[in-house]
Amino acid sequence: MVAIIPALSVAAVVGTTLAALPAQAAGDAAVGKQVFARCVGCHSTTLGENKIGPSLAGVFGRKSGSEPGYNYSPALKAANITWDEHTLDQFLANPATDVHGTKMFVNLPQAADRENVISYLETLK
Ligand code: HEC
Repeated sequence: MVAIIPALSVAAVVGTTLAALPAQAAGDAAVGKQVFARCVGCHSTTLGENKIGPSLAGVFGRKSGSEPGYNYSPALKAANITWDEHTLDQFLANPATDVHGTKMFVNLPQAADRENVISYLETLK
């Protein structure tokens, strides 16, 4: 117990300090979580929970169209994209031109929104 209490208070202090820092301009997962409010209508962050769109838990690093139990468009299934910073950025800027025939039509025109939401997606391991 004696060893745990100081560790907890250090964690509390660090947590408070981080929370007080201003948001970074690019690739901020906390800001990205707010951007993700535009995605939650269709996408869950719970593994295996598919809504109108597939669950995005673990999407970073996985192959496009590979969430089990989700009925993808033939276009996305065939796209053979590995989702990383670059491919997600391209897709989210304009899904329909990136993957012709995809069922996802919502885009993020602002580069900063994309960077932030991609950082957030990266945390959904
Ligand atoms: C109106 C519903 C809707 C909204 C809102 C939406 N999406 Fe989607 N999304 C979809 C659908 C449907 C698919 C599957 C597309 C297909 O099969 O062609 C998809 C697919 C994806 C994929 C590919 C996943 C995979 O497993 O290959 C990513 C990444 C993605 N969406 C990210 C986002 C992000 C980030 C947002 C918020 C900015 C968002 N989507 C908002 C409906 C939506």
